[in-house]
Amino acid sequence: MTDTSIRRDTLTYGDYLRVPELLSLQTRLSTPPVHGEMLFMVVQQAQELWFKQILHELRLVIDLLEADELPEATHVLDRVDRILRMLGDGVEILEALPPMDFQEFRWLLRTASGFESEQFRELELASGLSDPQYLAMADRIVDIPAVRARWPVTLHDAFRDCIAPLDPDPIAALVQIYAHPSRHPNLYRLCETLSDYELRFREWRFHHAQLVIRVIGDRAPGTAGSSGGAYLDRTLQYRVFPELWEARNKLVAEVTQH
Ligand code: HEM
Repeated sequence: MTDTSIRRDTLTYGDYLRVPELLSLQTRLSTPPVHGEMLFMVVQQAQELWFKQILHELRLVIDLLEADELPEATHVLDRVDRILRMLGDGVEILEALPPMDFQEFRWLLRTASGFESEQFRELELASGLSDPQYLAMADRIVDIPAVRARWPVTLHDAFRDCIAPLDPDPIAALVQIYAHPSRHPNLYRLCETLSDYELRFREWRFHHAQLVIRVIGDRAPGTAGSSGGAYLDRTLQYRVFPELWEARNKLVAEVTQH
């Protein structure tokens, strides 16, 4: 066997993962390069890769829910929850960026902002976020009808279809599930994993909002033109699965009345 034939039969780590291309993507804008800009780019690029993975997993979760394969769907959703937890920690790494280092290159970003992250908006829409204020804002960033055409059934829709056989009123269905988890073990596990999903997503928002006030304070406007910290605080109110929380409110109210 010649050296050339060995090379032809062998796949290297770098070729498979396309490491050279990946490592060529951190093109900093600052000249001379500001040290912290590398961290800023790497953290955000890594987050975008993970957003891609979450979207990939959500497609499978929805398909499995539609096929009534609840344990399998819950298993995949649990994987998503783990990714989200790690992403919240990932954002926190940037808290180590000193405010003045950021100011050295922030002006180079001009109007660029994570606000424009199309994958993040797709994640919110594929999950089923339908808050009117949110939709009015997202409409300026993504083509909502086109995204909805890619997700004709959102995670929220698929979840509602799963609990509908118990009761057409989703809150009443959830009250049954939470009052008697052992009678509906698969639905109960699904609801708990979806509750984690909503909370992990909010945690990401919270970690990001904390990062922002740590690096630029709570009064500086964002590069996309929002009020910055105040805007991000408002996004913490979004709920994709309001029924999950309303059912808990109802159950607790019933218990405390007796
Ligand atoms: C020094 C670090 C960061 C600062 C100062 C910062 C600042 C901001 C600000 C002020 C906003 C509000 C929109 C605007 O007017 O610009 C925003 C939105 C956003 N940022 Fe960041 N950000 C940072 C890091 C990150 C990272 C690591 C990510 C991860 C991808 C990210 C993703 C986003 C997303 C997705 C939004 C939209 C949030 C929403 O509208 O709910 N940002 N950012």
